[in-house]
Amino acid sequence: MIIAANLKTNLTRKTTLDYLGELNSFIQKNHISQEVLVFPAMSSLNSCDGDVILGAQNAYATKNGAFTGEIGLEQLEEFSIKTILIGHSERRHILGETQEEIVKKFNYYKKLGFKIVYCVGEPLEKREAGKEEMMQYISSQYKGIDTMYENLIIAYEPVWAIGTGLTPTLVDIENIHTDLKAKSSAPLLYGGSVKVTNAKEVLTLKNVDGILVGSAALYVEHFCTMISYAQDLSQ
Ligand code: 13P
Repeated sequence: MIIAANLKTNLTRKTTLDYLGELNSFIQKNHISQEVLVFPAMSSLNSCDGDVILGAQNAYATKNGAFTGEIGLEQLEEFSIKTILIGHSERRHILGETQEEIVKKFNYYKKLGFKIVYCVGEPLEKREAGKEEMMQYISSQYKGIDTMYENLIIAYEPVWAIGTGLTPTLVDIENIHTDLKAKSSAPLLYGGSVKVTNAKEVLTLKNVDGILVGSAALYVEHFCTMISYAQDLSQ
């Protein structure tokens, strides 16, 4: 399974380093064979010698250049980062990234062979508009994306479930994941208010290949507990 932590705009370079140290020693001590990904804040990117795979939460579709406030391939290469999160709802809705920009980014990092965690998910009004409209909305987020890309991981994250403590029912998650698997056979993660208290149930669902965790992953011991659930379920 794939267990991923999106640290968003949290932790400093120093506390991220401590976090990764604890995480790596947990993985080694417990012989964890799951794929563990961590997306730290940009300023906390670093080379990582342990088992954890570090990824960027964002990067511009460029090697370098005049793009104030952005980082590009050159800054990722410094730390041998080959994993990137693209299409997160906070970038779509708060920072106004369009599908067109997202596709450009996707294609740029795909061409370089990056592992891409591509996020999709509906806002509340689309969920309340009924299944058909909701699936139409989610389908529009697949537009221009190579769903057959070999290094693709998809994360289904309903916007209304992110950071709210709300989640779809387990049946809902399973149903939507089944529909999304028909669009792409890439590993499919669930994200949105995953915590120690619900991670195990979510991980047992059909067509759930892992989880993408935000706030609950900020506590390294919680994140480790979720990893151990995945490890137990995989045996
Ligand atoms: P929360 O786990 O805080 O709901 O965030 C999920 C998320 O956005 C992961 O990318």
